[in-house]
Amino acid sequence: MTDMTASDLRATRDRVAARLVGRERELDLVLSAVAAGRDIVLEGPPGTSKTTILKAITAEWGIPLVFVEGNADLTPAKLVGHHNPARVLREDYSADNFVAGPLVEAMSEGGFLYIEEFNRAPEDTLNTLLTAMADRSIAVPRVGTIDAKPTFRVIASMNPYDNVGTTRLSTSVHDRLNRLAIGYQDAEAEVAVVVLRTGAAGPLESRLTDDAVAVTRATREHDDVRQGSSVRGAIDLVLVARELAQLRDVSTSDDAGYSELVFDAMIVALSGRIHLDEAAETTPERVLREIWEDHFVLRPAAAEPG
Ligand SMILES: Nc1ncnc2c1ncn2[C@@H]1O[C@H](COP(=O)(O)OP(=O)(O)OP(=O)(O)O)[C@@H](O)[C@H]1O
Ligand SMILES: [Mg+2]
Repeated sequence: MTDMTASDLRATRDRVAARLVGRERELDLVLSAVAAGRDIVLEGPPGTSKTTILKAITAEWGIPLVFVEGNADLTPAKLVGHHNPARVLREDYSADNFVAGPLVEAMSEGGFLYIEEFNRAPEDTLNTLLTAMADRSIAVPRVGTIDAKPTFRVIASMNPYDNVGTTRLSTSVHDRLNRLAIGYQDAEAEVAVVVLRTGAAGPLESRLTDDAVAVTRATREHDDVRQGSSVRGAIDLVLVARELAQLRDVSTSDDAGYSELVFDAMIVALSGRIHLDEAAETTPERVLREIWEDHFVLRPAAAEPG
């Protein structure tokens, strides 16, 4: 919002920050870019707070956050919108029977268009998007020119590890966008995220949260893994293990039962979230077994409560 005073912007930042664990620097930078009226690419692996930050900013500004997933099927027509075919047959083309796509919706409502994995979108779609960004308006055949409201922004995201089905973005695309790389948070912040999302409480769940974060982070370091699990895996691990602990009546004093329970919950919560190197001759389950052994058998001190 270009007419914001410094204290407005600071107040927005402080209220948004209250909805997030950490990420102060990323929030300041994203907020500065959008307050400056600029569009930006957020580059980072899945589960690194991108949506959480954008939801909090748009909620604070009272504007919509319009999602669209970038993939090969995202044609310019899907991004912009189309005329309802049945109504066109009855009434002929008119502005009235135009169904706005996400781009036109975001422009006319002054929302953020959040285009995830935008490097997967076809080149002609990217061109449509870049033109709308540059002009802040779009000419739609048989509808007319739609001007963007002042709060319209394009936020794109891309995953740096993603190399299948992606368009090599030309330097002219990059030259039109701001960019911020976002990585994983530290273990302490991830523990706080897991506690916030699961409501983990008590000695068993506190130990479980620490272990869940540690083994999830280890999936990102393992030699055979191209991309490990985000904090989403740790959140699910705690939720699954909590139920399993009840089913099996496991308590903190039962060390063997506890570590077995964590392993079983790891299989459910993490095996689908680790993507192996193409050359690796192993399975997600074997990788998880190694991580588990390293954490609970070889370095049991790390698994001590507290
Ligand atoms: N800093 C944070 N504060 C609070 N919750 C967070 C934070 N980071 C992540 N989370 C939680 O972790 C999960 C994943 O975060 P989020 O959806 O923001 O990731 P993302 O970067 O948008 O991922 P993707 O690229 O896969 O869309 C959500 O459940 C979210 O609530
Ligand atoms: Mg997201």
